[in-house]
Amino acid sequence: MVMDDREYAYLKAIIKDLSGIDLSSYGERQMRRRLTAFVSRTPTLNIVSYCRMLQQDEAMLRELLVFLTIKVTEFFRDPSAFRQLETLILPRLLTHRRRLDIWCAGCSSGCEPYSLAIILNRIRPGRHHRIMATDVDEVALSRARDGGPFRSAEVRNLSESVLQEYFRVSGRSYWISDKIRQAVQFERHDLLSDPFDCDFDLIMCRNVTIYLTEEARNRLNRRFYESLKSGGVIFIGGTESIFDATEIGFTRLDHCFYTKSSNDALRSMKANRSFTPTEESRGRINAADICTVF
Ligand SMILES: C[S@@+](CC[C@H](N)C(=O)[O-])C[C@H]1O[C@@H](n2cnc3c(N)ncnc32)[C@H](O)[C@@H]1O
Repeated sequence: MVMDDREYAYLKAIIKDLSGIDLSSYGERQMRRRLTAFVSRTPTLNIVSYCRMLQQDEAMLRELLVFLTIKVTEFFRDPSAFRQLETLILPRLLTHRRRLDIWCAGCSSGCEPYSLAIILNRIRPGRHHRIMATDVDEVALSRARDGGPFRSAEVRNLSESVLQEYFRVSGRSYWISDKIRQAVQFERHDLLSDPFDCDFDLIMCRNVTIYLTEEARNRLNRRFYESLKSGGVIFIGGTESIFDATEIGFTRLDHCFYTKSSNDALRSMKANRSFTPTEESRGRINAADICTVF
């Protein structure tokens, strides 16, 4: 049976008190169902006694925190979006800046920032960029920092030549090469309560905000906007969308990409191309226009 309102509110308050994580910003139905299933694995009388155990047993609390968020990830998740990143977005950003500042938020065990580091190494070998990758979950971050082990399901989008060049295989596990591992700095960061850095050229936050309430999602998108440089780009997941993009100030470049475009770039695009108000009001621009916008 799913826990009732009072039990859920009580457990949320205890979790916030013990870990700082505020579950009110996550989709309630899914979170409540998952927590009910998790708590029922522990034989206890009721939620109050379960919470008392949490307060006294650090290992039990850690196990719960690991369970709270969904951490599914893989290298080059959504390959066509990564192809656009490689062929359109990064080359364009690199025409303005030699060294990019990049933040991968909600990076799980590192497949995503490492995919980006592989691309940067492929298109501009030898250049140093700042790639900061963060997550709220320490266990995922620890695997990310170690550079593995990654399972074959997590590397399924990679060609044999990429695997050979950037990975070491040990038994059935894959480990990222030291060169790529050292290109990414991992830090613990809670998107819902920690301060944001700023001046990023690219922010990747993919398949993270789908688990949040609409209000928390909107709040985060505004904060991401503030954290980007003018002309910077946000890269989101294939099933996600920034609904109030135009209101925030973003211009939609394509399916997964939005830019904080400078007014100058937009003005010159309108002057040079047949850019109709309907397209603009949808906040959507053709892939061919990407290069003109930022
Ligand atoms: C489904 S994974 C997505 C991983 C990766 N971005 C991808 O698309 O492959 C969601 C990640 O978001 C992280 N996450 C959830 N809530 C978070 C928060 N408040 N702050 C930072 N990271 C969070 C989870 O720990 C998890 O690693």
